[in-house]
Amino acid sequence: MSTLKFAVLPGDYIGPEVMTEALRVLETAAAGAGLSLQYATADVGGAGIDNHGKALPDSTLEVCQNADAILFGSVGGPKWETLPPKEQPERAALLPLRKAFSLFANIRPGLLYSELTDASPLKLERIPEGIDIVCIRELTGGIYFGQPKSTVQLENGEFQAIDTMVYQTSEIERIAEVAAVTAKARDGRVCSVDKANVLETSVLWRKTVIEYFAKNHPDLELSHMYVDNAAMQLARDPNQFDVLFTENMFGDILSDEMAVICGSLGMMSSASLGTQQNSHDLPFGLFEPAGGTAPDIAGKGVANPCAQILSGAMMLRYSFGQLQLASEIENAVRKTVTIDGLRTGDIAFGCEPVGTVAMADAIIANL
Ligand code: IPM
Ligand code: MN
Repeated sequence: MSTLKFAVLPGDYIGPEVMTEALRVLETAAAGAGLSLQYATADVGGAGIDNHGKALPDSTLEVCQNADAILFGSVGGPKWETLPPKEQPERAALLPLRKAFSLFANIRPGLLYSELTDASPLKLERIPEGIDIVCIRELTGGIYFGQPKSTVQLENGEFQAIDTMVYQTSEIERIAEVAAVTAKARDGRVCSVDKANVLETSVLWRKTVIEYFAKNHPDLELSHMYVDNAAMQLARDPNQFDVLFTENMFGDILSDEMAVICGSLGMMSSASLGTQQNSHDLPFGLFEPAGGTAPDIAGKGVANPCAQILSGAMMLRYSFGQLQLASEIENAVRKTVTIDGLRTGDIAFGCEPVGTVAMADAIIANL
C-alpha cells in the first residue's frame, strides 16, 4: 500500500477549518512513512443543501463510493434549522451515509488524559488518572431504522407517531464481535447494555450476546447492565468499564454522556465501520469528530482541531491498517496538549489559549 485513497467531507462551520489542519497532519505523517494521500473533497450537510439542494448529494455519494474510507467533518447549524427535520443536515446526511455503506459499528473512545482531568465535570477524586474506556454502538438497526415508522392522523383528529425497534440475531452478533475484538486489544472486559427487564429486543440482545461470547470469546469477561443503571454508573465511576457496548439509541445517549464526562468535545474522535471491505481488504469506514459544527466559534480560528486529527488517526488504523502511524499521531496530540501544554480555548483552564493552526503546527512538529 503506497497510496491512501479517501473521501473528504468537511461539512459546515468549523468543519472545514479543522479538516484543513487534519489533512496537514495526515500529509506529514504519511510522507514520513513513504505513503501518499489521494483524497477527493465533496460537499455534505448544509454545504450540500446550499450547493446541490440536498444534504447528501448524489455526486458526494459517488465520491465516497470510489474511496477506501471517508474522513467526515461536522454538519448542521442555525442556517438550516428551519428546514423540516427530515431534510436537516445531520439527519439527512449522516443516516443515509450510514445506511448506504452499512456502517453498523460505531466506535467512540472515551479518553481523558490525566493532565486534562480539569476538563471533566466529574470530581477529580472519581477520575484521578483520567478516563480510558470505549463505547461500541450499533449504528444501522434498532429504533432509528426499524419499520413501520410513520405519523398518521387518527379519526378523532389526534396525531399518532410510530417508531419501531427491531433487531435480528445476525445484527447483534456482528456488533458483539466488534466489542470482543476491541476488548481483546484492551483489558478484556465487555459490559453489554440493554433494557432486558422491559424490551423484547433487549431480551434477544442479551441472550444472543451471552451465547455468542460463550461460543466465540469465553476468555473475555462479559457483564450486563440495564441502560438506566449504566447511565448512572458512567457518571459515578466511568473507569469501572473497559468496553461498553449497546444498541443504537442507547448508544447515542450513553456516548454523549461519556463524551461530556471526558471533558472537551474538541478531543473526541469516532469511527463507524461498515460491512464492506475496501480495496485493502480492511473495513470501509467513516471517521468523524464528535463535537459538532460549533457555529459560535466558526471563522475565528480558535476551534480545537484535535478531534478531527484523531479521527484521521482512527482512519489510518481501521481502514488502512497503519497502526504504527495512527499511534504516532495520537502520541503527538497527547504530547502537544499535555507535556507541551498547548491548549485551545475549550481545554485552556487559565492557560493562554492557542489557535487552530498553532495547535496543528505543534502536533506536526511533534510527529
Ligand atoms: C450522532 C448524532 C446522530 C445520531 C444524529 C445527528 C442523527 O447524534 O452521531 O450521535 O443520532 O446518531
Ligand atoms: Mn448523538
